[in-house]
This record gives sequence, C-alpha cells and structure tokens, in this order.
Amino acid sequence: MPLHRPVRAEVDLGAIRHNAALLRAHADPAELMAVVKADGYGHGAVPSAQAALDGGATWLGVALVEEGEQLRAAGIRAPILVLSEPPPAAATAMLEADLTPTVYTHRFVQALVAAGRDRGSGPVAVHLKLDTGMRRVGLIEPLWDEVFGYLARSADITVTGIWSHLAVGDEPGNPYTVQQTSLFASGVERARAAGLAPDLVHLANSGGTQLGAGVAGEQAVGVHHDLVRTGIAVYGLEAAPGIRLDGLRPAMSLRSELTLVKPVLAGQQLSYGLRFTAAHDTVIGTVAGGYADGIRRGLTNTGQVWVGGRRVPIVGTVSMDQITIDLGPEATDTAGDDVWLFGGPDETCVTVEEWASWLDTITYEVTCGISARVPRVYR
Ligand SMILES: Cc1ncc(COP(=O)(O)O)c(C=O)c1O
Repeated sequence: MPLHRPVRAEVDLGAIRHNAALLRAHADPAELMAVVKADGYGHGAVPSAQAALDGGATWLGVALVEEGEQLRAAGIRAPILVLSEPPPAAATAMLEADLTPTVYTHRFVQALVAAGRDRGSGPVAVHLKLDTGMRRVGLIEPLWDEVFGYLARSADITVTGIWSHLAVGDEPGNPYTVQQTSLFASGVERARAAGLAPDLVHLANSGGTQLGAGVAGEQAVGVHHDLVRTGIAVYGLEAAPGIRLDGLRPAMSLRSELTLVKPVLAGQQLSYGLRFTAAHDTVIGTVAGGYADGIRRGLTNTGQVWVGGRRVPIVGTVSMDQITIDLGPEATDTAGDDVWLFGGPDETCVTVEEWASWLDTITYEVTCGISARVPRVYR
C-alpha cells in the first residue's frame, strides 16, 4: 500500500536476528524463547518471530491465544507457549492451533482435559506455572504438592514444562530474585519427586537472563535452566536503566518528516494551551505524528527529535497528529526533511531509553505504544 503520510516505524530485522543469536549464546546451553506478545512489543509479531527464530530462538511466547493463532496463520511452526491461562472456552482453539498452554488452575486444566478428550488426540502437553513471589498468576506454594501428585497421576495431561516469573529480575543484586530462584528450584525438585518429568524448566526474563540471579551464601544461583524467555532484549532495548547486554542493537526507529517550516517571533506562542512562548525569534518546524501515533503528550516541552544531524526540542503541546519543534534561528531545514523521533542513522539520535525517562515509563511501553496507524516498514 502506498504510504501517504511520512510517519513510520522502521524495524531492522537483522538487529532482531543478531540479538536473538547473542542472547542464545549468552544463555547457552539454555534454549531461547522470543516473547512476541503485543505484536512483538510493537515491532510486528510475525516478522519479529521469524527473525528471532532465524537467529536461534527455538520457542515463541505470546500472551493471547489470538496472538498464537496469528503466528500459525503466517505459517510459523515453532512451539508457542501462551504465557497465562485464557478463559476455559478457549481450550479447544488452543489445541487446534497447537499452542502450548500454561496452566495453574483446576478450572482451566479441566477445560483442557475435556477439549483433549473431544479431539481424541491423547494427553495434552502443558507447562505448569508456579508462583514464586510475583503473585500475579501461577500456582501458589501451599498447593504445589497436591497438584504435582494430581498431574502426575493424570492420563489426560502431560507436564512438559515447569516455570515461574521473576518480579525484580532486572534489579542487580536484589535478594528477592535469589529467594524466588531458590523456591523455584525446590518446587521443581518436589515436582520431580512427585513423578512429573518436565523437559523444560524455565524462569528468566530479559533482566534475569542478562543479570543471573546472584549469589546465595557461597553458592551462585543459576537462573537460566533449560530455556530463557526474553522479550525486550530481543528488540535490543534496556530491560531497566543500564540493563542491556553489550552488543544488543535496538531494532525500531520512529521516523517522520518536516511538513512545514516557518518563522516565529520572540514572545509568540504556539499549539494547544499556548504552552510554549518563543524566547527569541526562531524557526519552528511542524512534524507529522502526534499522540494518536504513540508520540505521547508527556513529551510536550520535554522531548527532543533528531533532524539535520542535530537534536532539537519538541516545543508546545503534542497534538493528536502533529508536533512542533524549535529548529533554532539559523535553521536551514525545509519541508520534507527527515525527522527521527527515536533511533536513526547516528549515535546522537534520541533513544527509546531517553523517551522512557522523559515519560517516566519503561522502554516496553514506548514501543508497545506506537499505535497501529503507524506503518511498520521492515529492513
Ligand atoms: C511470563 C513472561 N515471561 C517473559 C516475559 C519477557 O519479559 P522481558 O521482556 O522483560 O524479557 C514476559 C513479559 O512480560 C512475561 O510476561
């Protein structure tokens, strides 16, 4: 489709491939799951998944059954883990799409058992999620032994994976990670003692994969196990300030153009609410793209963009479809010139991490927030 508007998110699939290979090598001998939920953190689920698989990922992770179905419809055959339980009514659809369910409630296990019997395709392979301290979803510790025994005796369910999720895996040296890691290891041991025989034990997200769990007493506590589940690092972004393996490359750039350039005199104001007053005569550029594209209103008088080889400030209120930038009194920029909102050709360009700090948020929310009306263009 022709693009009539210059706003686009450029996604470097080579970077995703490279990042997956780097993470796989870092976690070796653990396998790599690329988490591609939320449309690949905004990068596009199908191309991102394919690039990560090409780089060495062997699993994909999604949040929704629909996201798994989308990958299957695109012809992706790799194993796909759905990271939390959908409503029980989705059990049949999960099996039809050959998605690996995560389980932690009796209600959902019963739905899978019924769906599996209807299909007559033998025991349903599941990954059991243990709650080791995140306290969002997962099986709570007092129920572990009873459920391990129940699942070990079940002829309808085969537990092929056991996993948990770190709450502060991106905080170096946080003892909570050591606690979670130890509790998880004891859970896996108890599960095996009860007769379960999971092929894949997994715990680490990007933070945990990159940092490890730390040291408990004299002993290094392993966190990689058989598989690591990385999302943000696959896209080359920091999991938290400073937490990014050397060599990871950001995959997404957000690019637009100047649509209009005009003089503004000292004392003149601009955009909604007149929240910017020119301190001196200057040249203001208008750029295509606004909060409906994910260029959040919080960047008003705070953010910067990269144009003509330099950074300039976003001035005045970010509106739904446009922003205004102060090009400075000597500007020679003209309509049609490239503007990079983040990423771009030079190391002086704005980063997703800077956006996140300006907006008091995390890198994840920046790329997930680039809206569906921004075309993704792949390199
Ligand atoms: C259960 C689970 N595992 C792994 C991930 C990947 O996390 P990250 O993007 O920090 O690597 C997520 C993402 O939220 C998740 O929910």
